[in-house]
Amino acid sequence: MLKGVAENAGGFYQHYPRTATIVTASNNGRKNAMAVAWHCPVSFNPALYGIAVAPKRYTYRMIVDSRQFGINFMPYEKSEKIAEVGGSSGDLIDKFTEFNLTEDQSIKTDVPILKDAYAAYECRVIDDRLFGDHVWIIGEIVAVHTASDVFKENGVLDLKMIRPSLYLGGETYCTGDGESMRVYEREKYGKR
Ligand SMILES: Cc1cc2nc3c(=O)[nH]c(=O)nc-3n(C[C@H](O)[C@H](O)[C@H](O)COP(=O)(O)O)c2cc1C
Repeated sequence: MLKGVAENAGGFYQHYPRTATIVTASNNGRKNAMAVAWHCPVSFNPALYGIAVAPKRYTYRMIVDSRQFGINFMPYEKSEKIAEVGGSSGDLIDKFTEFNLTEDQSIKTDVPILKDAYAAYECRVIDDRLFGDHVWIIGEIVAVHTASDVFKENGVLDLKMIRPSLYLGGETYCTGDGESMRVYEREKYGKR
């Protein structure tokens, strides 16, 4: 592929698509939700998950004070919910009432788990560090919520059952479907 080259990263949208999630928090009787596209697993054992949250977000203070957060993986059909919580501040409105967010019971923390999510983690914060204009918050996964029948026996999401919400940057969402799935066994392909 012929590529242009630049030294300035600019908005750097090149790493998209990535799954668009809703991060939830609860502190002092208040709950809130925000959209988070910058997130990543960081360790299998213990199971650790990282999220990048700008300190100016209302959710940031709630997470740092309560030392817990939830991360909710959303189906494509609910992408609108991601835009709703990602375009408003918990400082001004109660997003759960305003956007009709309904909850499942969390089991190890107080963080809201969204009914609409096909999977969610409850996390306890073990570290948070500022890098540039975002804080990288690492949580230990203490509970995993998964919808039945959407993951195959090998743990892989079944795209025939759920189409995940993927974020392309800006205001654009897309998804993957069962037709685009390919299985390449690494042992076999790595040895060719
Ligand atoms: C699709 C999408 C992804 C986003 N990803 C992030 C992110 O990874 N980190 C972040 O700090 N803000 C992210 N935002 C912005 C916040 O969700 C947004 O500022 C939100 O209003 C914060 O809510 P709060 O003030 O109630 O915490 C994203 C917004 C959208 C729409």
